[in-house]
Amino acid sequence: MTTDRIRIEYALAMSEGVGAGGAPSAEVLAAEQPAFAAGLERVMAAVNSGVLGFWKLPDDMAQADACERLAQKLGPEIDDVLILGIGGSSLGARAALHALSPALTSVGLGGGRRIHLPDNSDPWLFKALLDKLSPSRTLVLVVSKSGGTVETAAQMLCAEQWLEKSLGKAALPRHMVAITDPEQGTLRAHARELGLPTLAIPSNVGGRFSVLTPAGLLPLFLAGIDARGLLRGAKAMAKRCENGKLLENPAGIIASLHTLHMRLYQRNIHVLMPYADALRHTAAWFVQLWAESLGKRVDRKGRVVELGPTPLPAVGATDQHAQVQLFIEGPRDKLVTFVAVDHPDTDLTIPSVTGDNAYLAGHRLAELLDAERRGTALALARNGRPSLCVHLPRLDAENLGGLFFLFEAATAFAGELLDIDAFDQPGVEEGKRLAFGLLGRQGYEAQREAVLESEKQRPARYQV
Ligand code: PA5
Repeated sequence: MTTDRIRIEYALAMSEGVGAGGAPSAEVLAAEQPAFAAGLERVMAAVNSGVLGFWKLPDDMAQADACERLAQKLGPEIDDVLILGIGGSSLGARAALHALSPALTSVGLGGGRRIHLPDNSDPWLFKALLDKLSPSRTLVLVVSKSGGTVETAAQMLCAEQWLEKSLGKAALPRHMVAITDPEQGTLRAHARELGLPTLAIPSNVGGRFSVLTPAGLLPLFLAGIDARGLLRGAKAMAKRCENGKLLENPAGIIASLHTLHMRLYQRNIHVLMPYADALRHTAAWFVQLWAESLGKRVDRKGRVVELGPTPLPAVGATDQHAQVQLFIEGPRDKLVTFVAVDHPDTDLTIPSVTGDNAYLAGHRLAELLDAERRGTALALARNGRPSLCVHLPRLDAENLGGLFFLFEAATAFAGELLDIDAFDQPGVEEGKRLAFGLLGRQGYEAQREAVLESEKQRPARYQV
């Protein structure tokens, strides 16, 4: 079956596909309708009251216009962009850039700038970039929703000094841009003080849901890619995800299948396995979205539940030679979601040959990839391991935007079905506070003591 829109094929996640006792029946899935409808209603209430901002982002083409204007204003001397951000402030941009850069050449847009996304504050790559890049030809783009993330702040201060040393303070507004909360945070204040151009991540959009804000859009425009398609595709998907009928709602199906497999079959490891190199970083983006949103200690009623799926990225066919052995014969704790690109725009035909490889002659490499995905899906099913597949008609900005939105909406629905808050991340705070203590931040003296004392108390016999 081929359609012009994103399609989810999930027969192999159902009892008919993997055998009764290993997956839900059609009746069990249909029985999720009331819980799904109630969850959708709560999500839409939060969207319509303005509490939940990500759902309406695709309606706001003005943000894409603002990104394009800013990209166009850059002087021709800028040919490198150094993006400083971490987590949601870099994963979405990386996923989008990686997925769409082949399209960049095939549709002849060309002329894009080189984008560098060190992401981590590890000096290993960051220092190498500062050593290699030329300040006069570089734009430093600082992205932080909160404006207070320590890794990003530290990199920004180093990069700012690097620019200033070579170009002087007055040049900073031509070489730095900030994307952050519209009003609040240290980065917003710092950008004001330096007179930097800025764009905003709306206050009601969390970091891991920010790929359709300037955090994801501006890097594309800077690379010469028109990012508006992303919003168009996301808008079409948002409409489909507002459908109150579970069986017609693609994000509802993804959320319900995953939560059912968790609840009924203890399948708590959720593999995202695109059969497309271009979507390798989309799997990494999904990992953050799914893990940080759905791994929670307490439910909405404050009861300790300590639940959540462990997302696992994989890439086909590469991981057929690495992880698929485990998926097929290891613990029955995984639900695999494949992503297939039905009509890839790049391909190669395998030349005629005699001998053992003769059967390959005339086939295309994309056909091989597709055959491997279909073979792996059936092999999983024959061994009682469920999977589903998200089919993208093509890999372009529209479908990528649709895919991003699909997973974001599925995350929101899964949060409802698990009865947890998918939009906070209290668990990551403690480690940050302890690190602040070690770095001597005022007000964190007790945390410093706690780390040092704990390290002192660890028995020396547990070292080898
Ligand atoms: O989803 C989230 O809120 C986080 O993972 C953030 O993306 C990450 O911590 C970076 O935060 P910020 O964008 O505020 O620098």
